[in-house]
Amino acid sequence: MPVTLKSAREIELMRAAGRIAAIVLDELKAIARPGITTAELDKLACERIRELGGQPAFLGYRGYPACICTSVNEQVLHGIPGKRALQDGDLLSLDVGVEYRGLYVDAAVSLVVGTGDSLAHRLVAAAEGAFRAGLEVAYPGRRLGELGAAIEAYVRAQGFSVIVGYSGHGVGLALHEEPSVPNTGPAGHGIRLRPGMTLAVEPMLSAGSSETVVAEDGWTVSTRDGSLAAHYEHTIWISAEGPVILTAR
Ligand code: MF3
Ligand code: CO
Repeated sequence: MPVTLKSAREIELMRAAGRIAAIVLDELKAIARPGITTAELDKLACERIRELGGQPAFLGYRGYPACICTSVNEQVLHGIPGKRALQDGDLLSLDVGVEYRGLYVDAAVSLVVGTGDSLAHRLVAAAEGAFRAGLEVAYPGRRLGELGAAIEAYVRAQGFSVIVGYSGHGVGLALHEEPSVPNTGPAGHGIRLRPGMTLAVEPMLSAGSSETVVAEDGWTVSTRDGSLAAHYEHTIWISAEGPVILTAR
């Protein structure tokens, strides 16, 4: 789907979808303790999305079999929920998509299960920081490459790597729309942001290699060298005044 500019009504529906996504992620974070399985997290997500009036946007998307993605440790994204029980110190990334009355949002968060070590905590904080660095330049008239360059510079300054080969995307009338939203520069690349654009900005970081491999299941993306990875994502609206996070309560 091409780049689309959303009407005020579409933004309101995306805000409603975004509220559902934010509530579900908060609830998942609260129960992501040692011993719980990723399938149990998925079951809760499916139930809560529907109770709150939404539809799970990932379920059935290109054959994806669950309502959320649960990516653990070296897994970067698209981890499929299953029998795996979380352990103290695991770095867990939770990704959820919600459809509400035909409008879509996409959001993700990373967290450390239980106590965890300082590297895991630093990487989780850097994933959110990278998103904030991108947000700071997400104003009408700025190029997508400036957003990517801001994210990349922040991640490098933290001593981490930006995952290569995956990026954010337009979102709203479909889960994935144009344009692709890079997590790297150069700043001079890409189209200029315009009011009415809605974008999923989703930096993916690793503590080692920026290269990835896809598992036999066809979905799970892991770092090539097995190093720790984190992912953070919000759906944002480029308003005339600047960026507004739609996947918030
Ligand atoms: N946030 C993920 C992405 O944009 C959502 C993937 S949807 C899935 O790649 F169904 F493929 F998991
Ligand atoms: Co996304």
